[in-house]
Amino acid sequence: MPLAGGSRVLADQQVKPNCLPRQSHTCPPFTASRWSSARRRSLVCSVTVRAHAAQTLQGCKLAGSGSSVPEAVLSNTDLEKLVETNDEWIASRTGIRRRHVLAQGESLSQHAATAAQRALEMAGIAAGDVDLIILATSSPDDLFGSACQVQALIGAKKALCFDLTAACSGFVVGLVTGAQFIRTGTYRNVLVIGADALSRYVDWRDRGTCILFGDGCGAVVLTQQQGEQPCSLLGSSMASDGLGQKHLNAMYCGEGMKPLHETHASARGSFENISMSGQEVFKFAVRAVPTVVEAALANAGRTKDEVDWLVLHQANQRILDSAATRLGVPSDRVISNLAEYGNTSAASIPLALDEAVRANTIVPGNVLALAGFGAGLTWASAIVRWG
Ligand code: COA
Repeated sequence: MPLAGGSRVLADQQVKPNCLPRQSHTCPPFTASRWSSARRRSLVCSVTVRAHAAQTLQGCKLAGSGSSVPEAVLSNTDLEKLVETNDEWIASRTGIRRRHVLAQGESLSQHAATAAQRALEMAGIAAGDVDLIILATSSPDDLFGSACQVQALIGAKKALCFDLTAACSGFVVGLVTGAQFIRTGTYRNVLVIGADALSRYVDWRDRGTCILFGDGCGAVVLTQQQGEQPCSLLGSSMASDGLGQKHLNAMYCGEGMKPLHETHASARGSFENISMSGQEVFKFAVRAVPTVVEAALANAGRTKDEVDWLVLHQANQRILDSAATRLGVPSDRVISNLAEYGNTSAASIPLALDEAVRANTIVPGNVLALAGFGAGLTWASAIVRWG
């Protein structure tokens, strides 16, 4: 019987570590009909289960990483000339000492492309073999998205490309999204890039925000492993709360449509500077990060003792320390590079990951707990095996 057979296949798949979240496959709700609800339920369920049964899940490997940051640096001492602050205050409250910022004429796409090329080189994959590019960013060069510009710059001619906006959670959301395409056999090689230049939206007169943000790009390559090889994405958990948007945003501030005549022949849209309630975001982060990592670990069927490295969004050292303490992970297993880069939004996790991989701190086989959090509000964690 298809239902029984399908169920068995699905159950078999669920006991193995895999990239698809371990969800219970509940049936959709029913509308009134002449069929009994039980009859419809069994029909719909068998269709759902058969669809899963027909699909052989593919293995998925995190095969390479790369990063690129602008050369120009703004130190805490430089900021002392812009706002009433000092190096000691910034370093003790955030852990940040410097941030890299795009210079005039430099593009985010160019750095994203360099990060992508470095990741492809590590993975040993040619740009022409990339099937999908996901660019996680909130600050693209082009309102319509910059993933296609990255495609053009690296020559990934056959790739489908799109931007994904989930603020500082964007890289983790992009990684989970990319893994689904590989796991289901849709694509073989996926580039996931986190890239942001929030310096474009910072009010450099606002000492509450300008001390935090920097620019940068990081990328990883996901490749398909033929058959049901172990999957690098062991589990995940992701969430959003639009009611918290008031605490962190950069709102569109155009004037709306005006009567069209000579003096109003064109409209120029723009966005406000970043607006943030620091304490609210801090409270949200210290609550959300451990919770979402615990949920992702449960989804992966793993415990915190199996985590080799915490690779969290680099927003504030106090947030990293608090999350590590709550999770019971020793501080020497927390990757931190925010002293050098500040908060680079969607780039911060792949940038930290890439640096740690190239320093041989993270080595193949290590289990990593990644977690991003930020505007939206959004928060997301992925438990992954490197290499
Ligand atoms: N330099 C010196 N003094 C500063 C300052 C600065 N850059 N920014 C704020 N202050 C002052 C405040 O005016 C306040 O002074 P007062 O006591 O005389 O009123 C005092 O320092 C404390 O301000 P507060 O806002 O309570 O500081 P804080 O300890 O909460 O630290 C943040 C501020 C922004 C560093 C902290 O709230 C934070 O990191 N929040 C999370 C932000 C974040 O990560 N956002 C991105 C998420 S993706």
